[in-house]
Amino acid sequence: MFRSRVLVLLFRGLLLLSAFTACYSKQYTQTFVSNSNFDNPERWVGHGVPCAEDSIVFNEDQVVSIFVQTNASIKELYFPLNGEFIFADGVVWSADESLSPCVGDDHGDHVLTYNSDPYNWFDIGNWQGSDENGDELSSKDLLDIEKIPCDFDTAAFPLKQSWMVSMPEDINLHRLVIWNQDFDSATFSNYRTTGRGRYQFTGSGVISAERAICSDVTGCACR
Ligand SMILES: *[C@@H]1O[C@H](CO)[C@@H](O)[C@H](O)[C@H]1NC(C)=O
Repeated sequence: MFRSRVLVLLFRGLLLLSAFTACYSKQYTQTFVSNSNFDNPERWVGHGVPCAEDSIVFNEDQVVSIFVQTNASIKELYFPLNGEFIFADGVVWSADESLSPCVGDDHGDHVLTYNSDPYNWFDIGNWQGSDENGDELSSKDLLDIEKIPCDFDTAAFPLKQSWMVSMPEDINLHRLVIWNQDFDSATFSNYRTTGRGRYQFTGSGVISAERAICSDVTGCACR
């Protein structure tokens, strides 16, 4: 009994040790692959992406940043008070049914709500890593700690997408790129006070992105 407990402790110790030593990373680019776009079916509760004849109801205190890439025909729409809709060029919303990309027996006359839960920055499912040549890294070649942006990585939020991201803890990065625009600690902290940034990045975590370089060819520790 006693002996097995010692073994368990020893085993736990080894796991901790390996978790600690495994915490090394090279300089990668980590791209955010989740989004809160209007046409993302995962965000809609009730009957998928809105179609002609549907009603869309946002709760007034939902915090959203929604990129709209598709035309829509909307019967009724209740906007939130605390959010933004970013329309791509040429997108039209109206009550005209012909605008909707989906009209059919199965569609229409539903009341749809939108799930505005933010993505967690530290959720590995939100990121896709790539190396310095832009080649995607296979998830099986990476340790979990390397699947979210590490101190020497670039975190990239791609064009034509929107997100709500919660940052419960502080984050160290090499570089932060949002819609092809470069941010460092100061410019990002300013961005978070703007109309767009305050809906996209929530939580008490602070990003520091001061271009730190990893000069060790075997990789550098994530702090
Ligand atoms: C939206 O509708 C406008 C006007 O009918 C049209 O010109 C445009 O191509 C449509 N856009 C998309 C993305 O379908």
